[in-house]
Amino acid sequence: MTALGKALGFTRGLRFRLAFSYVFFFAILLVFLGIVFRQTLSSTFQTQMSNTLEEEWGAAKGYLRTGTEGPNWFYDSKDPDETFTVERLRRVYMLADTQGHPLQYSVIYSSIGLDSPSQIQAILQSGKETRVRTDAQGIPYMIRSGLMVDERGNRYYLAIGRAIDYNDKVLRDFTWNYFALVPIVLLASGLLGWFLAGKALGPVNSVAEAAQRITHSSLDMQIPLRHAGDELDRLIEAFNHMMTRLNRSFEQIRQFSTDVSHELRTPLTVARGQLEVALFTAQTVEQHREAMAEALEGIDRLSNIVRALLLLSQSESGQLTLQKGRLDLAGLVRDLVDQHQIPAEAQGVRLSAELPATCAIYADRIQIERMVSNLLGNAIKYTPAGGQVTARLTLEGEQVKLAVEDTGVGIAPDHLPHIFDRFYRVPSADPDKGLGLGLSFVAWIAKAHGGSVDVESQLRKGTRFIVTLPAGRAATVAPETPAVPLTEQVH
Ligand SMILES: Nc1ncnc2c1ncn2[C@@H]1O[C@H](COP(=O)(O)OP(=O)(O)OP(=O)(O)O)[C@@H](O)[C@H]1O
Ligand SMILES: [Mg+2]
Repeated sequence: MTALGKALGFTRGLRFRLAFSYVFFFAILLVFLGIVFRQTLSSTFQTQMSNTLEEEWGAAKGYLRTGTEGPNWFYDSKDPDETFTVERLRRVYMLADTQGHPLQYSVIYSSIGLDSPSQIQAILQSGKETRVRTDAQGIPYMIRSGLMVDERGNRYYLAIGRAIDYNDKVLRDFTWNYFALVPIVLLASGLLGWFLAGKALGPVNSVAEAAQRITHSSLDMQIPLRHAGDELDRLIEAFNHMMTRLNRSFEQIRQFSTDVSHELRTPLTVARGQLEVALFTAQTVEQHREAMAEALEGIDRLSNIVRALLLLSQSESGQLTLQKGRLDLAGLVRDLVDQHQIPAEAQGVRLSAELPATCAIYADRIQIERMVSNLLGNAIKYTPAGGQVTARLTLEGEQVKLAVEDTGVGIAPDHLPHIFDRFYRVPSADPDKGLGLGLSFVAWIAKAHGGSVDVESQLRKGTRFIVTLPAGRAATVAPETPAVPLTEQVH
């Protein structure tokens, strides 16, 4: 990685981004506060100064009178207070008649620039005015000017002023000091942010390291919880749950492959054995025929397994889409019960059905036939001679319930939770060797149609499978849906 790449990678890190956003928002906040403080300070100074000028204007009114030689300042020159006040008033001032001709003015005011008659006329018209002006040295003054009427009712134009350079200096100093401090504060907050982000993200790194150590063979590994009850603990918990689920499905796949190879090996060995008998030991045509027939049986079984496996893998990968359409379940069950009468009779089992005249559902005909056949086939297969198998169809509100019950061998409670697993067979109950796949298809088909299968069983008394499916009213009919992978079956 190049140096630039490294630097870019660094800035993409969560720690950098956290610390950076911290500093960024802090900077915006500091600048904003600085501007607000400066504005407040400046307007406070301004109001203070115009209040002072207003007071001085009132004082000037008391001292300025019209004497024999025109307007003049009258005060007790022996009183130091009065002298001081009048002296201060006369530092920055200008007096003019109402025509705008200057009568008196201070040196400072002349350096600021005397007001022109037209200016004075304009101010006199508006009553009063407060403005800021600068003298020849660049010192700013606040000037308050307007009409002044003395005790005898004579009218003049008076302007008095005060230097405001000190206020400006305070404002400038504040601005400089404040904004010089900002980078230092930002640097300190950046370091603090970096440290805090590092501390907060430390556990994330350890989680990442632990996750990296997990390989295909160590899927059962769990990241230890920190018991801090925080977001990270929740992340670790979610991660551990995910690992458990992954481990379970890996385990299922592993088990499945083992089961498949095991299932294929037995009929292969049988077929091979019989063929060897035919080839090496069989003498008569009868013996040859027998060996061949048994080999053929093994091959039949093999092709059954291969067909079932194909279907299984199609449903597992979601390739098997349901061709749903309107379907009369009552008619379908009736036909299938009729078809199963022959094997039932052969087994010595009575097979009957209790069905309504019609029962509409929205489903894939082939799959539903496969499901019902499997249930009927099982019921007949696992019921000894003299027993009874009944298929019962009822409509309960929005649901259709199909119960297939028998008076057969029943299933022991230990086996009951597993019968929907692939290749699972109750060992002793197997009269004729099945594949142990039938019920996994039943469960998958029910689930793919938005329904479910339940089972109740008592050993040596009988078993009842109940399939629940949504009723197929036109309004509730669902659009074409892809099948749910078999791995998501409810067992
Ligand atoms: N009606 C039933 N009565 C008693 N046991 C049953 C019944 N239905 C299923 N079982 C038990 O559940 C197991 C699983 O049934 P499933 O239909 O999946 O397999 P199978 O019938 O053995 O083989 P396959 O249907 O694949 O040919 C069976 O081996 C059997 O032990
Ligand atoms: Mg079966």
